[in-house]
Amino acid sequence: SVYPVILCGGSGTRLWPLSRAQYPKQFIPLIDGSDDSLLVATLRRLHPDNGFQPPTLLTHNDHRFLLRDEVQSAGIPPREILLEPVARNTAPAITAAALSITADDPEAVLAVMPSDHLLDDANAFAGTVRQAAAIAAGARLMLLGVTPTEPNTGYGYIRTGAALTGGASEVAAFAEKPDAETAARYLSEGGYLWNSGIFVLPAAAFLEEVERLAPEIIENARAALGNSERDLGFRRLAGEAYAQCPNISVDYAVMEKTARAAVMPLETGWSDVGSWSSVWAESAHDANGNAVHGDAMLMDTRGSYVHSNGALVSTIGVEDMIVVHTPDAALVAKRDRAQDVGELVKQLRAAN
Ligand code: GDD
Ligand code: MG
Repeated sequence: SVYPVILCGGSGTRLWPLSRAQYPKQFIPLIDGSDDSLLVATLRRLHPDNGFQPPTLLTHNDHRFLLRDEVQSAGIPPREILLEPVARNTAPAITAAALSITADDPEAVLAVMPSDHLLDDANAFAGTVRQAAAIAAGARLMLLGVTPTEPNTGYGYIRTGAALTGGASEVAAFAEKPDAETAARYLSEGGYLWNSGIFVLPAAAFLEEVERLAPEIIENARAALGNSERDLGFRRLAGEAYAQCPNISVDYAVMEKTARAAVMPLETGWSDVGSWSSVWAESAHDANGNAVHGDAMLMDTRGSYVHSNGALVSTIGVEDMIVVHTPDAALVAKRDRAQDVGELVKQLRAAN
């Protein structure tokens, strides 16, 4: 069976003011009709009946108690929670997890996934992972691909190559976060999939590629794990060694460079809920296309997303707006400017 590895280290700044440095996106109940955070939803997909081993989770040391609360409320006991003393992005994190898991099971196949995405159908997801794992066993690094719908520059683009079995194909090329012009060209040319950020990896083959392509990562991750300490149900990676890992994502460090990648289409609804406009799109709408979370009164309002954490929020005569109210900060934005919230947060940080 497959060993899930859940990455819980991101900061989700485009969902400010709800997502904060001390309380990031993956820990927040974002989609209405459910009190579950995105992380709890991720964990619940990994039921042992669906062929999954207990998950390994990784997060920054500062978020360990938030993480533990979420894991407890999901009711899926973890295999291990690895704590990063400093954030070094996904390549070092996945490498540390792969080293830890291969120490238990040298033949392990990993299902590496983000903690902050939505998937429509847990059974379809588990089926795709099983199919991908069967192909991965031939020492392939499998990416789950999604059909692109717009020239979004926030994703990795996979050019599909020769067909393999079970709907999979070889990866002819992988480009992480291309510029707008290139993304538009990929879309008009066709033959590309988005990288969903979910990887199915034979751990040993993955580690071989890291060793070859980014030896500094494996060396320091190995030392960080070797000198780790167990503490209250956590496993703390050693700070000095882990800090020496280059700060780089797995997409740039491995997936753009490896010749062993293959892709399997993910045949269920997928969203990375990356911005308020995608939260609006994924939420239930009223007859006027509004989505509301919390206490709100809308009059003559259309196509808007209104989120309140306590106060009553009301709108009159507005269209295509995002309104997010929290006890100490509020956001009012045109819905089509939702991508710019990340830039706003940058300016806020620089101003403070
Ligand atoms: N533990 C840990 N440590 N997790 C991390 C860290 C870290 O240092 N950095 C990021 N993560 C987690 C995030 O919480 C998220 O769940 C996942 O790893 C991916 O990181 P993002 O920062 O969200 O990556 P991205 O969205 O820019 O790009 C990736 O995802 C896209 C799909 O949403 C890439 O894989 C793209 O190719 C892909 O298209
Ligand atoms: Mg992301």
